[in-house]
Amino acid sequence: MEYFTTTAKASGRAVDCVIVGIYARGKLGIGAAEIDAAARGTLKKLIKSGDVSPHLGRAAVLTNVENVRAARVVAVGLGKSSEFGPAEYRRALVGALRAVSRTRCGSILNTLTLEPGGTPYYRARSAVEVAGETLYRFTQMKSGRKKAPMPLKKLGFSIGKRSEAAHIERGCAHGEAINKGASLAKDLGNLPPNVCTPAYLARTAQKLAKGDGRLSVRVLNETEMKRLGMGSLLSVTAGAAEPAKLIVMQYRGAGKDAPVVLVGKGVTFDTGGISLKPGAQMDEMKYDMCGAASVIGTMAAVAAMKLPINVNVVVPAVMNMPGGDATVPGDIVRSMSGQTIEILNTDAEGRLILCDALTYSRRFKPAAIIDVATLTGACVIALGKHHAGLMANDDALADDILAAGQRSGDRAWRLPLGDDYAQQLKSNFADMANIGGREAGTITAGCFLGKFTDGMKWAHLDIAGVAWLGGDRKGATGRPVPLLTDLLLGRCRALPA
Ligand code: BES
Ligand code: MN
Ligand code: ZN
Repeated sequence: MEYFTTTAKASGRAVDCVIVGIYARGKLGIGAAEIDAAARGTLKKLIKSGDVSPHLGRAAVLTNVENVRAARVVAVGLGKSSEFGPAEYRRALVGALRAVSRTRCGSILNTLTLEPGGTPYYRARSAVEVAGETLYRFTQMKSGRKKAPMPLKKLGFSIGKRSEAAHIERGCAHGEAINKGASLAKDLGNLPPNVCTPAYLARTAQKLAKGDGRLSVRVLNETEMKRLGMGSLLSVTAGAAEPAKLIVMQYRGAGKDAPVVLVGKGVTFDTGGISLKPGAQMDEMKYDMCGAASVIGTMAAVAAMKLPINVNVVVPAVMNMPGGDATVPGDIVRSMSGQTIEILNTDAEGRLILCDALTYSRRFKPAAIIDVATLTGACVIALGKHHAGLMANDDALADDILAAGQRSGDRAWRLPLGDDYAQQLKSNFADMANIGGREAGTITAGCFLGKFTDGMKWAHLDIAGVAWLGGDRKGATGRPVPLLTDLLLGRCRALPA
């Protein structure tokens, strides 16, 4: 994609599409006012007649607008001007881009950058992200001729001052890197479980590192994991024919600095094991590796930007299957930390692989460690598909993550941890049980992981809700790649002040 900025009038630009915004009560955005003046009141007339709506995100595609050189004007509702901020900007762009996504638009000029309520950097970045999101298609598994998406090649931004151009450029570059990471995460999530196996995840990580001097990958097999004492992780793969892998990626962009370690749950399919899940929608458990996909995707984004930071990714990758060798409820296993775990439910497997990955990660002496996992159905009930669940043992780290979520529009909401909840994990037979009962299921899962993170600055993101959508938009979302990437950008001071 090519990007440009312009301080000139939108009506004079020969692009395939100009996006302009309409506020509530027919108030014209800056680009819309200019187009309306050139077209002698056309927009105002269409607002009066109801053909153009100020409703946030509702878009009308207008062609042959007089005195406008662009082939199309997309007039999109911005809602109330007093409420127009980054989230509304993004929703408006989603509406505008979806409206033209079936056309053969090759170039677009976005004038919404002129509206108050955001910064040039994030305006550009989120536009690039929305474009990537709108154009994303998962067609790898379809046979026959595939419909080509809108051939968008050029994306431009109207700016008020020339000095904003550098911020726009940087936002576009970062947006592209985030798109690269998020579409990789989506692809991995959308691939079927007979393709996206632990070995496939490992190969994907290795491919990313090929030809990149800063990035290296090591893949541990089951024998090596056994030698390390990962009895908890290995108990999850016991029933599976597909071998488990521990994928370790290291990106070195900042010399000897302590790394940020990202740990991602990589259950390539979760049947529940002997505690078998019900059949309805079980296919969706192919998304149970979206934590892994998002940390690998974030690594792809970091590497694409060549950030001056050190990041490690650790992915425990397994398939959770029932079988003659499978772990059964009541089994007690010994984790790499030495702590023993009574497995009361084999469907609470994510924490069993993550705890050993967290213990393994201690060797990196992380500056911060963040695990990302589709961990609990309870999180979907609590927060739905809007916020990821955040738990942490460090307030500063939690605040950084919440702020990155706000800035990137990929939000998280903090939940408490603490001994009151951890008590629910008590076992009469082992150091702890792997489930804590029906109440506060997301938090007790977090508490379980917290027993393996003593002395580290740790945060846990439960992405069971946000990692994928159902219904007619069924598929992986690529979240939380934008949040994690923003966090890392902030940590190496690569965001504009
Ligand atoms: N992968 C699931 C969590 C999940 C459920 C993610 C629904 C997305 C949608 C996880 O392994 C699991 O099965 N969790 C159990 C835990 C329970 C047995 C304590 C759950 O949430 O039911
Ligand atoms: Mn499970
Ligand atoms: Zn699971």
